Amino acid sequence: MTTRTIRDLSAADLVGKRALVRVDFNVPLDDTGAVGDDTRIMAAMPTINSLLDRGAKVVLLAHFGRPKGAPDAKYSLAPVAVRLKQLLPRPVHFLGETIGAAAVAATHALPSGAVLLLENTRFLAGEEKNDETLSRQLAELGDVYVNDAFGAAHRAHASTAGVTQYCRPAVAGLLMEKELAYLGGALAAPERPFVAILGGSKISGKIDVVEALLPKVDHLLIGGAMACTFFRAMGFETGNSLVEPDRLEMAKDLLARAGGKLVLPVDAVIAPSMDAGRSARVVGRASIPAGEAMFDIGPASVEQYRALIESARTVLWNGPMGVFEKPPFDVGTFAVARAMAVATDRGATTIIGGGDSAAAVAVAGLESNMSHVSTGGGASLEFLEGKELPGVAALDFR
Ligand code: 3PG
Repeated sequence: MTTRTIRDLSAADLVGKRALVRVDFNVPLDDTGAVGDDTRIMAAMPTINSLLDRGAKVVLLAHFGRPKGAPDAKYSLAPVAVRLKQLLPRPVHFLGETIGAAAVAATHALPSGAVLLLENTRFLAGEEKNDETLSRQLAELGDVYVNDAFGAAHRAHASTAGVTQYCRPAVAGLLMEKELAYLGGALAAPERPFVAILGGSKISGKIDVVEALLPKVDHLLIGGAMACTFFRAMGFETGNSLVEPDRLEMAKDLLARAGGKLVLPVDAVIAPSMDAGRSARVVGRASIPAGEAMFDIGPASVEQYRALIESARTVLWNGPMGVFEKPPFDVGTFAVARAMAVATDRGATTIIGGGDSAAAVAVAGLESNMSHVSTGGGASLEFLEGKELPGVAALDFR
């Protein structure tokens, strides 16, 4: 079963109609208060343009930051509207309200081919409660509902879930479709070898992904500080490295069950602290001394991971290999990014699972060298864990 998408909508659904589109415009602002990274805005453009080209009026719903269910100027979508106007050569209007008579009137007054961005859905107390009354009020803003907010699809909120009870058809946008196709395709029918790389600081945040991926992958490469919890489970000393003592039994159990699939670093870049890059040195994984900690995977591990990644047919990556924001602890992370770019060139499907790894790929300037860079951090993680995403489950299926 797949979700219906805007491709399934007919001219009768769209011409002169109000398409209520939930997008994820939760973007970082720079020091001046302007949009600092418009990746997520750009990612929604194909859906917005397609709906406009097909004669619809586009009404955009989005959340921004985490205000506490009440208006807060700091979290206004006004700066996003400014950027949207620069990016879209069409009339773009912004209303400082989200629901109510003025908002509904503005949606009706909108000419075909124009866009209306409404204020932050999280200014409304009912949004995060998936409140029924609010869901009905949101439904009054459109004739058809489109969810293109993959990054917020793991939230069962009024604008991502409840609204679909009262505004149908309810279909996926093109970004949502693409995210589900890449991430879902990797899980359901990966071309082999299928290599997944998981990093980041804590094993606790990734354990469900490890469990879900292990039966599907050929190799699961581990990096980041979470490797140290495995090292400790193997009986090695880990110095001051970040270890989760309450996850040691879990790590032991995984090592016993994984067979050869779980690949851990064989060496580590260590230093007395992450600010002591000048004292960084490479040691074997069993030789991390007291008073120092692992901040990156070592060169022998980089070489092993590179070879496995470059010869894979499907590669999925979530989580950095080290403290990539602080050289020299960026080597492992950027090496993984480059190896994935090589794999893409060789015809592999390469997928970046959002969050920090997407940021690292952007810093490396390799975004266009990947098959897909997910716009969802938490959402892609939950999807990879095999969880149903409420924002997807609420849509029409075929
Ligand atoms: C994100 O930035 O990951 C999404 O926009 C979801 O935001 P949230 O974690 O505040 O729900």
